[in-house]
Amino acid sequence: MSPLRTRIASAVLLSLVSPLGYVSPVIAQQSAPPPIDPAALRFSNDLLKRMTLEEKIGQMTQVALNSPDGPGVEDRIRKGQVGSLLFIKDPREINRMQHIAMDESRLHIPLLIGFDVIHGYRTIYPVPLAMAASWDPQVAETAQRMAAREASSFGIRWAFAPMVDIARDPRWGRIMEGAGEDPYLGARMAEAQVRGFQGKQLSDPDTLLACVKHFGGYGGAVGGRDYDSVNLSDDQLWNVYLKPYQAAVNAGAGSLMSAYMDLNSVPATGNRWLLHDVLRDQWKFPGFVVSDWESVKSLTTHGFSKDDHDAAVRAANAGVDMEMTSHTFREQLPAAVKNGEVSQAVIDDAVREILIAKYRLGLFKNPYADLDRNARETLSAEQRAASRKAATRTAVLLRNEGNLLPFKQAPPTMAVIGPLADSKPDTMGSWSLAGHPADTVTVLEGLKQRFPSTKIQSTKGVETYREQPSIFDDQFPDPKPTLTTDAAKKAEFDHALDMVRNSDVTVMVLGEAQPMSGERASRASLSLPGKQQELLEAAVATGKPIILMLLNGRPLDITWASQHVPAILEMWYPGTEGGNAAADLISGDANPGGKLPVTWPRNVGQIPLYYADNLTQIAAEPDTRYWDETSAPLYPFGFGLSYSNFALSNLHVNESTLHIGQPLHASIDVENTSTVPGDDTVQLYIHQRAGSASRPVRELKAFQRITVPANQKRTVDLVLQPNELTYWSASTHTWVTEPGVFDIWIGDSVKANAHATFTLTK
Ligand code: BGC
Repeated sequence: MSPLRTRIASAVLLSLVSPLGYVSPVIAQQSAPPPIDPAALRFSNDLLKRMTLEEKIGQMTQVALNSPDGPGVEDRIRKGQVGSLLFIKDPREINRMQHIAMDESRLHIPLLIGFDVIHGYRTIYPVPLAMAASWDPQVAETAQRMAAREASSFGIRWAFAPMVDIARDPRWGRIMEGAGEDPYLGARMAEAQVRGFQGKQLSDPDTLLACVKHFGGYGGAVGGRDYDSVNLSDDQLWNVYLKPYQAAVNAGAGSLMSAYMDLNSVPATGNRWLLHDVLRDQWKFPGFVVSDWESVKSLTTHGFSKDDHDAAVRAANAGVDMEMTSHTFREQLPAAVKNGEVSQAVIDDAVREILIAKYRLGLFKNPYADLDRNARETLSAEQRAASRKAATRTAVLLRNEGNLLPFKQAPPTMAVIGPLADSKPDTMGSWSLAGHPADTVTVLEGLKQRFPSTKIQSTKGVETYREQPSIFDDQFPDPKPTLTTDAAKKAEFDHALDMVRNSDVTVMVLGEAQPMSGERASRASLSLPGKQQELLEAAVATGKPIILMLLNGRPLDITWASQHVPAILEMWYPGTEGGNAAADLISGDANPGGKLPVTWPRNVGQIPLYYADNLTQIAAEPDTRYWDETSAPLYPFGFGLSYSNFALSNLHVNESTLHIGQPLHASIDVENTSTVPGDDTVQLYIHQRAGSASRPVRELKAFQRITVPANQKRTVDLVLQPNELTYWSASTHTWVTEPGVFDIWIGDSVKANAHATFTLTK
């Protein structure tokens, strides 16, 4: 093991050289994370010299307060046996623990307090899939900046986010935690979140160390079944799945989490190719790697290591620097180092990086929560306003027949129906572990506040519950069913329909309760759970105008609704201010401008379905790839409506011939032909016509969300960066940039039809 896992941050040229020897200088420049702060390195090396092996392994140990190891952790902190704590939320408790570490341990090393700050801490922001639907990296950056400000005021300085796993199978429950199916959009969202968490400089007290997860390829679980094996070709790994992780690493993310599952039959947490060859040798990642929850110990469950000892040895040698929750490092590494199975250098590298992170965060100077700042920041008006704005920018309008939305004037009567209409936890969504349901504004509450003169009636109509318990039940209990008899269920169903009949307009708030989405929340179907579909169909059958508002973390089967319900607004899990944001959108105070970050299937049998597939033997048209279903999605990637109408014209591509290494500039005019200002997102796709390997039919390579005033036109300039023409070729097994003809399309979904071509030359 080279002592230079001290990782001199040199550009990674090797992997970028094409068989013809072209290296794009831009790629080379972009392919390295920021260098290590020399002061942090010196400090950590000095401290390292004074540490015993037990203290070093202590730094490599994270204890979850809600695990069997939690009780009595104070004593171990005192002895220097703990480097990090997880699932501790009370700032006074955090300060008490930090005092033990700082005042009572031999070397006074502060604890690193981690938490799943996925989409907010106490103030909950829209889930990451929603943030990606904004197609505005600034939305993601601001949300994570605000989350960092709030969480750090509690003494938390490490977020287990961003989750950057590409997901092309909506059965997988964790699709809600990432940016969807596309590596380019995913990479931009990953970088933005790192910037948001880590702020201008990590030493500012209001930052969180980012933790890129789950490395790597976790979103490719077979059958969408959480934790199942992932089998990805090299082409898919390099060109799709690994891209957002590398973008986050290059954006300076301070830590990374190894994943649970087998990647091509080698568990990610024991996968030295991933954690060392790719991450360290090629990407020059300078931060530290934490395992996922008990994923070191579970190397044995995978049938990979033979026992705990073997698991600890193989995880440490693969490149895991800190173990989350299980205690194989603590119990097994001392002997493994003594008998030479794990070298002292492996331990020192791991500990050095953990100490560097603590130093960069300023924890050695001040690891304590600032209780005054905590009082000011928690759920402040500024936090709530930011969350509300984010939730309006992340909503996607999927249908709006006859311009049913927005309301031209307040309706005299309204029904707000559905199991999620007035449910606070379901407005927040999964991974809201520090949020309080009581702080949350539901859709019903938001509408009541926005339309004070409207007579609003509301009821659930049906109840929906997960059939199996969720892993979060003890931390975030789901309410129990109240309708327990068939008669009670029927009475409630009929009651809801009466309300629909007696109202001028109905907002149906349907989707998935929060435990139905997220970790260990995979599904075999995409239907609206429970009897929601029946309720929706019965409500539509009344002939009254219906708006379907979805709260969910994955595309659902709304094929029937897409033909029969005039207005469909996808709100995802919008967070603390979700109800107010919903009211802003319904009233027209805000205009929806989100676009889908995933291809929306019409039938679960089409999965996996994503836009960037390769051309095949059979042309896409006529559409005969299934004989019992079209292969077209219900809604294409990048699609979303607005209350405005846009006309795109005048595509202009500045270069018809381009040299390798040169950017291409393109522009298009976006005209708002309506009387309301609104946002459109201009998307640039390319296709390489021929090369050493087949290339996807379209690939997103640039985008920009813009606001266009009513009846005005704006020109949007997009740049296709030269490194975006480089791909990993499955035939040459190298990164290549190949001369030839490329198609280019610009539009406001993947269906963009303004087309041009350019030729890439040496
Ligand atoms: C999840 C991680 C999470 C960790 C700690 C694991 O089960 O996979 O994403 O950060 O728990 O909560």
